[in-house]
Amino acid sequence: MSESRRDQYLRTWHKDLFKGKVCLITGGSGTICSKQAEALVVLGCSISIIGREQNGVDKTVKELSEIRTDVRVVGFGGCDVRSFDSVQSAVKKTVDQLGRIDFLVCGAAGNFLADFNHMSSNAFKTVIDIDLLGSFNAVKACYEQLRQNRGSIIFISATLHYYGVPFQSHVSAAKAGIDALSNALAVELGPLGIRVNCIAPGPIGGTEGFQRLVPNKKGFASKIPLQRVGSVQDIANATIYLFSDASSFVTGTIQVVDGGFWQMGNFNTFDMYPEALRKRLLEKPKL
Ligand code: COA
Repeated sequence: MSESRRDQYLRTWHKDLFKGKVCLITGGSGTICSKQAEALVVLGCSISIIGREQNGVDKTVKELSEIRTDVRVVGFGGCDVRSFDSVQSAVKKTVDQLGRIDFLVCGAAGNFLADFNHMSSNAFKTVIDIDLLGSFNAVKACYEQLRQNRGSIIFISATLHYYGVPFQSHVSAAKAGIDALSNALAVELGPLGIRVNCIAPGPIGGTEGFQRLVPNKKGFASKIPLQRVGSVQDIANATIYLFSDASSFVTGTIQVVDGGFWQMGNFNTFDMYPEALRKRLLEKPKL
């Protein structure tokens, strides 16, 4: 990792803030989640990465392992969050190898741009299954550990569903479900000392989501109240806060990290709206 990123975390947070803790991250080799993992490792947290792509998981584990020698990093590829058995097996291996799980990040997500007419029922279900069912499965599989350790959960949500975003009906529905799941679990699991929160990233530079959702980047930053696109460190810092004792009275919240962008309302970022969309909606439907 870059020295400047490490220094940035260490200027704000104590280097042993999470010493002895273990965090499991689904989708942990993705752009955002791998940087959440990186920040946690800098602060002494051991990590278990789970994901579908073995190579991506192996690469992330290798990179994270080089940050701090007293922190352990393990990874389990070939794990699909849509299968409870698959997640349960990775959780068991994590506990066997790292001894415990204190924190869970439900980050595994699927996305593509598709208008209603070109999205099959299976396509819609696929994203609901990865994002929403996958988040539920991860909590379910980690529940015993979270209960024992009075753990903390972060779901990765979005701001898309605060208004109507074209080509994103599947993701918006899935993320709205995640917010609802998070709120309900915060209330149910609170008495056990388990805290449950969401992080809702806005436009974060370098991510697939930003690439797809903001095709025209010229002048885009000036439309964000804080006048810049977000960075992966912004999400990592929110993660650190929500897992730290600084937020010990914080549960059932959705931490939006977007520079104030969604407060600007729903202005369309797609050049293809509405004319190209209208044409697509009138084509032969994909069933
Ligand atoms: N437009 C419309 N439909 C699409 C699509 C697109 N761009 N991409 C996939 N689909 C449909 C497929 O056609 C299929 O439906 P069908 O059986 O009716 O044809 C359905 O989605 C499932 O696709 P499949 O490729 O079999 O699923 P998968 O489990 O292998 O992959 C995805 C899941 C589709 C979400 C894939 O994009 C993925 O793996 N993404 C992970 C990475 C990612 O999205 N990261 C972004 C995080 S923000």
